[in-house]
Amino acid sequence: MRLSTPAQAPGLVRRRVAAGATAAVLGLAAAVGSGLGTSASAADSSTLTGIILGVGADESQRIVNWYSSADTAQLVQLTPTASLVNGEFPANAVTFDAIGGANIASSGGFNRHATITGLKEGTAYSYRVGSEGNWSPAYSFKTQDFEGDYDFLFFGDPQIGSSGDVPKDQAGWQETLKVATAANPNAELLVSGGDHVETAGTETQWTSFLAPDELRQVPFAATIGNHDVGSKAYEQHHFTPNTDRSGALYANGNPSSNTSGGDYWFIYKDVLFIDINSNSYNTTSGGGGDAAHVAYITDVVNKHGAKAKWKVLVFHHAMYSPASHAKDSDAKVRRVDFPTVFSNLGIDMVMAGHDHAYSRSYAIKNGAKANPDEQPGAADVYPGPGGVIYVTGNSASGSKYYDITKPDSSASSGAGNGADPLNPDSFWYNSVQNQEHVRSYVKVQVRNDKLVVENVRSGTCAAPNASVEKGSWCYNTPADQPVGSIVDKVTVHPYQGNGQNIQVNVPNAAPGEFGWTIDGYNGLVDLGTAEEHNGDYFSATGQINPIVVSDSRRSLAPWSISASVGDFRDGDKSFSGAYLGWTPKVLEVGAGAQASGSVSSAYDDNGAGLSVSRGLGWATQGHPRGTAKLGADLDLKIPGSVEKGSYRATLTITALSS
Ligand SMILES: [Fe+2]
Repeated sequence: MRLSTPAQAPGLVRRRVAAGATAAVLGLAAAVGSGLGTSASAADSSTLTGIILGVGADESQRIVNWYSSADTAQLVQLTPTASLVNGEFPANAVTFDAIGGANIASSGGFNRHATITGLKEGTAYSYRVGSEGNWSPAYSFKTQDFEGDYDFLFFGDPQIGSSGDVPKDQAGWQETLKVATAANPNAELLVSGGDHVETAGTETQWTSFLAPDELRQVPFAATIGNHDVGSKAYEQHHFTPNTDRSGALYANGNPSSNTSGGDYWFIYKDVLFIDINSNSYNTTSGGGGDAAHVAYITDVVNKHGAKAKWKVLVFHHAMYSPASHAKDSDAKVRRVDFPTVFSNLGIDMVMAGHDHAYSRSYAIKNGAKANPDEQPGAADVYPGPGGVIYVTGNSASGSKYYDITKPDSSASSGAGNGADPLNPDSFWYNSVQNQEHVRSYVKVQVRNDKLVVENVRSGTCAAPNASVEKGSWCYNTPADQPVGSIVDKVTVHPYQGNGQNIQVNVPNAAPGEFGWTIDGYNGLVDLGTAEEHNGDYFSATGQINPIVVSDSRRSLAPWSISASVGDFRDGDKSFSGAYLGWTPKVLEVGAGAQASGSVSSAYDDNGAGLSVSRGLGWATQGHPRGTAKLGADLDLKIPGSVEKGSYRATLTITALSS
């Protein structure tokens, strides 16, 4: 009499259960009628324009924003690019409902945005907007590791239209984004210094601003400039996360007016970004002025600062810059209102635009140079406690440049524009000032122990360079300063406090898997010759080939192994598998394995024995990861009436995990 385990090839046969399997989510929306009497199944015919991929609240989110010609229900549809079937979105593509409203009357149409959540690390995604039957083209983006080092790119004042030639301004903007992302294909954010367009409510300028496809591929952190504020168009094009739209954060104190504003924040991989509407600086205009921003920034840092290693502030109006705006009265006011607050809050860097020229400051503490000995253009800067680096971006589009201005006699106070004793042509607060009338962008490498800031040329004197094409001077020498060459580079080493910071990087655990295998050679389980007991019954015993269970899943989800046996057969003779019982055992402890209960032979209890599925072993939710070996003593008792024969049955083993 013999018993065999399943009919499978000898040796190791591994059965795998996908680990961490995510529930399939689907939510395809039904087509929505146009409201013009067409049937409900008619495709929406809205024209979809101005699609832009914005930042979300963190690295696992994105906000997609667009314009629609009609007021219909719309969605963002998303799928891992690997799941596209011949370029088509699969039926289980996820959707996110869009919301929005009517645009201001001057532009017409409607705006929509949807927040994509739940993104996974290291994944290429494809998305499109619209509704069933009326989708936009598909665009793609990728996520990377959600922890650790990354680069972001900062762009000053594209200000499309400011040269007077929108196509030329667009060409320069497009070229900068192309060059910057080509040189930095893994850069994870595009951060704006504001002034996206020349005239806030002119949609043709917005269309040119939004033309580059990079704005649909890498998340964009919008910043409002003085040229963006005079219309709702900025807010209609850029829905931002965690945005405070209270009146105090609007220049005129009135968020419902045809104006844009508000402050927002997000955390992206260890950097807390706080982006404020610096158009609101004067309480006489109706807003809360600088004090309202101070309250906002303080609140955000207090609530969220501990979640990030770095704090970067972004706003349009540079406080410490090299050209004519450095002497503006509002800049001087900011140099009184902000620096001590920023120092006390532990802000690492402030990035701004508005002055259309590049500068990076010395480390500034409480409105004064933190270390009088810091040398101009130093390659490494140690800001010390309260030291803040201020960076001003040049024009990313080439639409307009401002020339560097001379220090004046207003002394070296925090509010003034006096000369640097170490470099009298430069303002006291600037380590580096640069203007060549060449497009550039700022690359920031975020590392665990430093920020590396580079100003990189994205053009030369050659077109596209609208300002130069229209007659302004250009200082750049292409042979020495080609596209991609570096204007300035500084490594900022943060103050670590008086103690010693200890850091350890913990890598991503492998997602793990659950699996089981028959231990060793899966030979015949031979119960030998059954022993007769007084003519009443036969009995035989043995042991199953041990089962090795391994579970390395992060989910620590429950698992179970069970088995059932078919009838024992020898030619046309048979008896029921119910006569086989067992006593499961844990042979080697691990993976939270526990033995299931004993099952008696039907001969003893008239039950079903192993003819129905019975547990061998199991583990509960939260069990340790690891490996276990399960076995079972087999107990066969069959009636004395069974005919002589050499019987075999098959034990079928099943694993379940969630
Ligand atoms: Fe500006």
